[in-house]
Amino acid sequence: MILVTGGAGFIGSNFVLDWLAQTGEPVVNLDKLTYAGNLGNLKSIRNDERHHFVKGDICDTAQVTALLTIHQPRAIVHFAAESHVDRSIHSPGSFITTNVNGTFSLLEAARAYWSGLGAASRDAFRFLHVSTDEVYGSLGADDAPFSENTPYAPNSPYSASKAGADHLVRAYHHTYGLPTLTTNCSNNYGPYHFPEKLIPLMITNAFAGKSLPIYGDGQQVRDWLYVGDHCTAIRRVLDDGRPGATYNIGGWNEKANLDVVHILCDMLDELASREDNKSYRTQIAYVTDRPGHDRRYAIDARKIERELGWKPAETFGSGIRKTVQWYLENQQWVRDIQSGDYLKWLDQNYSGRERVSA
Ligand code: NAD
Ligand code: TYD
Repeated sequence: MILVTGGAGFIGSNFVLDWLAQTGEPVVNLDKLTYAGNLGNLKSIRNDERHHFVKGDICDTAQVTALLTIHQPRAIVHFAAESHVDRSIHSPGSFITTNVNGTFSLLEAARAYWSGLGAASRDAFRFLHVSTDEVYGSLGADDAPFSENTPYAPNSPYSASKAGADHLVRAYHHTYGLPTLTTNCSNNYGPYHFPEKLIPLMITNAFAGKSLPIYGDGQQVRDWLYVGDHCTAIRRVLDDGRPGATYNIGGWNEKANLDVVHILCDMLDELASREDNKSYRTQIAYVTDRPGHDRRYAIDARKIERELGWKPAETFGSGIRKTVQWYLENQQWVRDIQSGDYLKWLDQNYSGRERVSA
């Protein structure tokens, strides 16, 4: 079996569902259930004996050690993190606690467990750390995309905390020989995406008749990766990645934010038009920019293709259509998470930012 951390969040829950469907191998899922963790994402496997959910904190080394001792996993896949850049600007402390200290605690527990395994199990064990392209900083319009050799230059408290975690993982391989794997992926999108992030926020605000807030001039560029493709890539890395190596995972889909929002509006106009037949584009509103906003991210994903034969199956067009359809069919899921806390966040992040033009 494998131990997954953060498996009630967006990517983690997609991974657990995909893992059970594709491999059938049991999973222990350790998640603190912060505002971003949602057992509703795992409803379809609530009676599945192959899935063992544990509410807990990766910072709690004793709890992690007990789980490792009891379940004897052959791998740890580490998703648990504070993941939203805007929240890291408002309150960075929890990002350091979970992303840096939590990864350190987890590595310590993993090292102790791994050291005690027999030779064959030690050789086979893997610690896969899921990270982000944001650790590489911001690109100019004509710069080459991030490769695995691009120097780290994180710009937000979020990306700095992920960079710290990446360095610890690297050090545990070099110093102790722990068989680690690190993946740095671009912006994911797809089902179960918490609606504080760009794509689900725009879809859910559009339905609710709210404004669609574009930071700054909307010309910041991100690479977009469909979450199902990300899950496939992680499985490939876990199976055949070289211990100690890092792999960049991207969708080959660079898009400016404003273009993403236009595509979403046009798709919503087609699939769920407004009662007044006006385009959802009329709801777009420019707001003051995010402090320190990175201008462009782009991923060179040739290494994982060359070494492990992985490349994304979805285009942006096919992935975004699946995503919009999922949100149309799962409006109750959205209503269930739009709690008091979520509304408080919207107020904290967006009030007073609206501007008249770009
Ligand atoms: P998410 O915020 O949706 O989910 C994070 C999960 O971790 C939640 O279920 C939360 O309850 C859990 N968690 C938080 N702190 C914890 C702790 N101390 N102990 C145990 N569980 C804890 O995040 P996501 O978007 O699914 O991202 C998963 C991973 O992928 C993160 O490490 C993130 O940095 C990385 N990543 C995400 C993206 C993206 O586009 N979403 C892109 C690149 C990398
Ligand atoms: P986000 O989904 O927060 O991911 P990240 O900052 O990790 O890339 O944001 C994606 C892009 O969309 C980023 O450039 C910020 C921008 N953005 C907006 O323009 N408006 C919004 O309301 C949000 C949440 C993001």
